[in-house]
Amino acid sequence: MKKKLNPLIATRSIHGIKFGPRRGPVSMPIYQTSNFRFEDSRDAIKYANGDDSVYIYTRYKNPTIEDTEQKLAAIANCDNSILFASGMAAITTTIHTFANSGDEILALNSLYGGTYRYFRDHLNKMKIDVKYFSNSDLMELGNKISKKTKIIYFESPTNPTLSLVDIEVLINIVRIQEKKLKIKIITIIDNTFGTFVNQNPLKLGVDIVVESATKFLGGHSDLLAGVVFGNSKLISKIKLKSKYFGGTADPFMAFLLGRSLSTFELRVERCNSNALKLAEILSKNKKVEKVIYPFLNSHPDYAIAKKQMKAGGGVVTIVVKGGVKNAVKFVDSLNIAINAMSLGGVETLVSISVYSTHINLTDEELNEHGVTGGMVRISVGVENIDDLINDFNQSLKKLK
Ligand SMILES: Cc1ncc(COP(=O)(O)O)c(C=O)c1O
Repeated sequence: MKKKLNPLIATRSIHGIKFGPRRGPVSMPIYQTSNFRFEDSRDAIKYANGDDSVYIYTRYKNPTIEDTEQKLAAIANCDNSILFASGMAAITTTIHTFANSGDEILALNSLYGGTYRYFRDHLNKMKIDVKYFSNSDLMELGNKISKKTKIIYFESPTNPTLSLVDIEVLINIVRIQEKKLKIKIITIIDNTFGTFVNQNPLKLGVDIVVESATKFLGGHSDLLAGVVFGNSKLISKIKLKSKYFGGTADPFMAFLLGRSLSTFELRVERCNSNALKLAEILSKNKKVEKVIYPFLNSHPDYAIAKKQMKAGGGVVTIVVKGGVKNAVKFVDSLNIAINAMSLGGVETLVSISVYSTHINLTDEELNEHGVTGGMVRISVGVENIDDLINDFNQSLKKLK
């Protein structure tokens, strides 16, 4: 009998779930087509009778997209995944799959600005009530759960303040309340910052993981994508909604993303180690008021980080002394790191939070999200670490 393979993440991200001898291309070709020929009308009849093994139309399924979805599911070690045109398409389609008018969502009070604005400006019009909880008091979350609660939505680490939620504790609280109130709640985490290299929230009992694959999964700042991971039952519900909303992936993006996955672990591990070294160096710099990084023992959630993460991730957030004026001077004086939005690429990117992820928020909302004027998010790339350290040091030297 063949020994059962139990491959780890680096192997799964290259081979997906298909091992052993078989014919065909080594690299999945791009099926750049919107639709598929039927051999004859028996195919159309099969499809009409509910057999979804037939290829019909790329918004429903496409071999290139399916191949990347299988690799993604293999990385997460879960039943299935579904690819979207962007992280926001993944998030909004998932939310609308499980919450309807009259329902309630409990969300972490510190979220990616785009998600927060969608909750604030759109869901209220759909009569979906969003209430917020803090990661510093998860017991309070238990008290907030009601019969109307359909979704618990959170991030860990958060964007850009890198605070953490103790995932195990959150899940325990939710499951206890579910039993008490005889309800079913869908727990959703945005794992864009953590990535499956550093943590697997599904293993800790979270129902659904969403990620902006534009970031570490894509990793080269050349594509937009979103992905949802979960069990087959939940993913098939989301798949149905995605056919209506149409935010589905396209074959070329799926090809690029599939290609990026081959180096996923390599890239994230290098980002992890560069980020930790940079965080340690910046902590000693007098021009820097604060360095936030989950694997620095000065981080308030350091114990949680060590418990649930393998490494601290590729993002370091700093607060430079002198507020937003010095933040501008600092990012404009960098030579290697690029002043650009987004994160998770091979190149180091910096962005001033109040001018990027957290625009259009009131002072009160910024305060609630922990975002300040001097805050600069650094997405640490895979460059040589000494070059990066020299670049950051020379730029900080220019600040008064
Ligand atoms: C944590 C997080 N979630 C979701 C998104 C949205 O992803 P996308 O830009 O791919 O739609 C972003 C984008 O920056 C993000 O940082």
